[in-house]
Amino acid sequence: MKLSYGDEGTGPAVVLLHGFPLDRTMWDAQVRALSPGYRVIAPDLRGHGRSPAPDGAYTMDQMAEDVVELLDGLEIQGPVVLGGLSMGGYVSLALALNHPERVRALVLTDTRALADSPEAAAAREQTARAVLKAGGLDDVIEGMVARLFARSTFHDRPALVPPIQDVMERTSPMGVAGALRGMALRPDRRPRLKEITCPTLVVVGDCDVISPLDEMKALADAMPGARFQVIRGAGHLSPYESPDAFNSALLEFLKDLPPHD
Ligand code: MLT
Repeated sequence: MKLSYGDEGTGPAVVLLHGFPLDRTMWDAQVRALSPGYRVIAPDLRGHGRSPAPDGAYTMDQMAEDVVELLDGLEIQGPVVLGGLSMGGYVSLALALNHPERVRALVLTDTRALADSPEAAAAREQTARAVLKAGGLDDVIEGMVARLFARSTFHDRPALVPPIQDVMERTSPMGVAGALRGMALRPDRRPRLKEITCPTLVVVGDCDVISPLDEMKALADAMPGARFQVIRGAGHLSPYESPDAFNSALLEFLKDLPPHD
């Protein structure tokens, strides 16, 4: 699968994986902040943005292989800094566990190590069917958007919302269904977290209702060498809602990484 991607800047490679059902533009503020010192590669995961949206369930392992294929195509064989938000975090965990030699550091943002409960998996299947039947996301966008942002973001920075809604509206129904079905299949990663020994930054918005702060703290505690950062006043989209606070935490983390060749 050939993914569409952005590739900006020069320096050590930082790969950023977006959440569901978004695309790489959610990282625009990080691309701007990092690209003076880093090569920032932000793909559209399969089914999202400008990448192809084939039929079938997109497992997190499969999406991780797509990213490895992209890095191979770019001839980036050395380990990268890999960051992912939510679904992008599920994919990052899969990639770090399946290809530890490709990851020199990990940034897990507003994401989860747990699998779906049977109820959550059933709800995803229901949404997948509804979106495919309707041929679009119109009926589900409002409910999804309500859970993505902190309440204060809706009040104080309402202009942040429409660009995210627009991206969702453009996401193909096939892509949405594939990602929902793939997320429902993802395993509980908690038993394997201790295998991830590279430097890790775990970030959460304190108003995130999808990956709550306590769960993210437990995720950080389960990983040797993880740093934990809370972004105050942000929801599930902390890098997008509070780019200054997020970027300074990320840049600080990157600056402290051991040098690599
Ligand atoms: C995301 O932001 O990627 C989604 O909330 C992930 C999920 O539905 O589990």
